[in-house]
Amino acid sequence: MPPSNQIQKNSSMPTQNNNYDSKEIKDMYCDEVSFFKYVVPLIYRHVTLDFCDMQPQNFINFAKEWGKKPTSVFLHGTYGSGKTQFAFAMIREMFRSCPIKLWPRYFTSTELDKRLLKALKSEEGDEYEIKNIASQDILFIDDIGRETKSDRLRNQYFEIFNYRYSHKLPTILTSNFDLEDLDEVIDGSIASRIQEWNILRFKDRDLRIAQ
Ligand SMILES: Nc1ncnc2c1ncn2[C@@H]1O[C@H](COP(=O)(O)OP(=O)(O)OP(=O)(O)O)[C@@H](O)[C@H]1O
Ligand SMILES: [Mg+2]
Repeated sequence: MPPSNQIQKNSSMPTQNNNYDSKEIKDMYCDEVSFFKYVVPLIYRHVTLDFCDMQPQNFINFAKEWGKKPTSVFLHGTYGSGKTQFAFAMIREMFRSCPIKLWPRYFTSTELDKRLLKALKSEEGDEYEIKNIASQDILFIDDIGRETKSDRLRNQYFEIFNYRYSHKLPTILTSNFDLEDLDEVIDGSIASRIQEWNILRFKDRDLRIAQ
């Protein structure tokens, strides 16, 4: 397990991507104001790095660099340690400083699980939905490990992560679990690839209690 506050480096560059959502929809929400207004849950709408001052300086520095050149990142730690807030602050930084226009897509893991199950049960099957999710410019899955454990979801996650890995598309994952503990929801080969990502381990403290 990496020590607290450790950031593992990864420098692969994001690629601009032709995803499956229509260009009109993308353009409508493809800016900081609309993303935070229409996509981000209310309690995180205001966040910037200035609201993350309880986090260590190396996290803040990392987020500033990440904003210019997003890469895949795994944020893990205990409940209330500030992972989701920090991830949204990173995304705001990206809107402000990335020279490439990238569209982030946000899902809680339980929402994504429901969506993938629904797609699989549909007449058309899940191929289109998997490709759609897999090909987003930036995919943020919040709280991975909280969803149902099933071979169905592991296979669907494998397709998504494998596609993103091979197309060098940045993914943000937050979790209360370490990578080793996620083996029931993600395939071992994917967990092994996540080890190459930047990994931020949040300090064990509940900032909700501190409020
Ligand atoms: N750096 C910070 N300074 C002060 N308060 C913070 C900071 N980061 C987060 N918080 C507050 O702490 C609470 C928990 O933050 P957040 O939801 O990001 O935690 P989390 O790690 O995602 O928790 P969980 O694992 O339960 O999803 C939020 O109400 C948030 O506003
Ligand atoms: Mg969270």
